[in-house]
Amino acid sequence: MRNCHVVMTRLVGSATRLLAGLILAGALGLSSSTFGQSAGQAQMIHYDAATKVFRLDGADVSYVLGINEQSEVQTLYWGKRLADSDTLPAAISSPAISSFDMALNTTPHEFVGWGGGLYVEPDLKVSFPDGNRDLILKYVSHQIHNDGLAITMKDQLRDVYVTLDYRMDKETGILRRSAVIENRTGDPFTIEQVASGTWNLPRGTDYRLRYLTGRWAGEWNVQEQPVHPGKVVLESRRGTTGAQNNPWFAIDDNRSNDQDQGNVWFGALGWSGSWQISVEQDQVQQVRVTGGPNAFDFAYRLGNGEKLETPAFYGGFSDHGVGDASRLLHRFEVGSILPGHPSPRLRPVLYNSWEATTFDVNEAGQMALAEKAASIGVERFVMDDGWFGGRKNDHAGLGDWYVNPKKFPNGLKPFIDKVHSLGMEFGLWVEPEMVNPDSDLYREHPDWVLNFPGRPRTEARNQLVLNLARPDVRAYVFGFLDKLLTENDIAFLKWDYNRNWSEPGWPAAPNGAQQNVYVDFTRNFYSILAELRQKHPQVEIESCSGGGSRVDLGVMQYTDEVWPSDNTDAFDRILIQNGFTYAYSPAVMMAWVTDSPNWVNQRSASLEYRFLVAMQGSLGIGADLNKWTADDFDKAKQMVAEYKTIRETVQRGQLYRLITPEHDSPYSVTESVSPDGKKAVAFAFLHSSKELYPYPRIQLRGLDRGARYEISAFAGKLAPATPKTASGAFWMQHGIDVLLRGDFQAAAFTLTRVD
Ligand code: DGJ
Repeated sequence: MRNCHVVMTRLVGSATRLLAGLILAGALGLSSSTFGQSAGQAQMIHYDAATKVFRLDGADVSYVLGINEQSEVQTLYWGKRLADSDTLPAAISSPAISSFDMALNTTPHEFVGWGGGLYVEPDLKVSFPDGNRDLILKYVSHQIHNDGLAITMKDQLRDVYVTLDYRMDKETGILRRSAVIENRTGDPFTIEQVASGTWNLPRGTDYRLRYLTGRWAGEWNVQEQPVHPGKVVLESRRGTTGAQNNPWFAIDDNRSNDQDQGNVWFGALGWSGSWQISVEQDQVQQVRVTGGPNAFDFAYRLGNGEKLETPAFYGGFSDHGVGDASRLLHRFEVGSILPGHPSPRLRPVLYNSWEATTFDVNEAGQMALAEKAASIGVERFVMDDGWFGGRKNDHAGLGDWYVNPKKFPNGLKPFIDKVHSLGMEFGLWVEPEMVNPDSDLYREHPDWVLNFPGRPRTEARNQLVLNLARPDVRAYVFGFLDKLLTENDIAFLKWDYNRNWSEPGWPAAPNGAQQNVYVDFTRNFYSILAELRQKHPQVEIESCSGGGSRVDLGVMQYTDEVWPSDNTDAFDRILIQNGFTYAYSPAVMMAWVTDSPNWVNQRSASLEYRFLVAMQGSLGIGADLNKWTADDFDKAKQMVAEYKTIRETVQRGQLYRLITPEHDSPYSVTESVSPDGKKAVAFAFLHSSKELYPYPRIQLRGLDRGARYEISAFAGKLAPATPKTASGAFWMQHGIDVLLRGDFQAAAFTLTRVD
């Protein structure tokens, strides 16, 4: 996968020369072998010049598209891998079914401009200065390179070029798609809507859509609904990813509830600004999934000679159910997206001070917590909100990123040294894109926030959003973070973002291109992260947005982990984590053990239960350690030590959702199998037992049937008759009985291959 530091970018110069080459190649009708595939290289991309059919293969997936007789780029197949010997016939545009549904609407386009009489979702809509808004894109040329294919299209009359980029991941069969729009018309024009591309599923009517919904403290709910004629739009209009929908979808065609059977087409957008994914079943039962920046209030002014690259839209296929679709995405995220891929660092066990101290941080208090955290095996101590400026509560201080002299009279150094002397790394909370009106920064630069002149500025959590699209704001934000990281030995930033946009005006935008803010803000956000990482390679970053409001494959290119939710109630968290893993890997899923009763529901649960819930992801501790008993410390030490032995399996393994907590199930069981297949760990949770019914038998998955594994419970009890060792077949077919009875009970066990 391309290491894409700036997802949306204006390009000039060399890219133009490349395009010129592509056009020439297309005009000469050259086939793929002409374009630099070295001899002996695995052929993942084939082009048949006679039929004008392109085929991309990766893992167990084939994706086939062709140029039809109208010179449109048309989807031909997306699904389980075809035999190498299979060839598909040339693309032919679909017939009109009546004067009301012309061929333009019945043909499954890869990328279609709004022009002619198009009624389905367009991939590109532009408005020219002369009032013309017609855009008919036709194939011009293509280029095949390593794992990528680039197809260039052009409007039939005007010099608007679109280059479609396809990159197939050979490990997972996940295809990355994006498009570059180039203006060579001589005048600026406005892009009113743009998508990364359209995924066309095989025509059919028996599809089910899964997607994720939520809100603050209630993120990651899995929704399911049949795909009916008409359109469903998953979206954020908030300026950022949002928790209300997450930019992920999965569509299966057998309507079964099974996690591991059936065909599933799935995808995720890599974009942390306003976005949309529309799922449309049209007049001819064609299901189209189109995704990119949200079209609502969108406009991007593209000057002559400029280019705009869309976000990446990733898509994959599995014929082993939505469980396998998730595992493919997890592998792809670790292998191709996260910083340090394909081998990102395992997440250290961290302590975070937020729930213990909220804003009331000071040197002595943090040092005392650090000593206690170190004693249970914590590897990274993170000081949360409250350390800077005039920050006593959420009314003041955001924007003033100097160390508060009353709280840390000697600066951060003595405290950081203390953390290091205890054998831990030091991490710090920041919320760089925000400002409190009660701050020196806002008093000095009231024009730096998103605003419409003369209109009230809506505050949320007493803060406003800095307009990161502005070059001076970008420079300020990068500057203070760079200084902080240069002057202090900081291994980790928890990057927070605690509200969504309002009044998204940019009065000082160059050339009056105010609405470019939707692209330029996110582009600058990414470029700051990229530049900081380049300059301070030791620093890791967490994407936090009041919980899980900024989790997507765009931000995950620059951040090592994410905070799924502010809801740390262990029972609620089971459902939250379950939904999260449909799209995202446990490798990035931070999960804290916090106090009981928990602040969210006033629910009490044992420390062991709380640990076991958090140990399914990247373990953190966020409790007030000053309140812990000696027994709590002993239990925590034991669980942290246990976690370190299973961490690699949890964070890198194949995750099986054996029993999901969805639909109010009182049970939840997950299993992770290590990448080498030699270890597995399973966690079982019970909400409350009823009428003496035993816990459901747990049938594991993903083991080697013929190999022998030894079982060992590290929490809860196995049924006394459970053999100590048995074959993979036994553990998967006969299964395991755990003894769980009561309320909020949990068990966990490992299997280790012994032959
Ligand atoms: C929201 C985060 O999600 C919390 O963990 C904490 O960092 C607070 N912000 C601090 O203001």
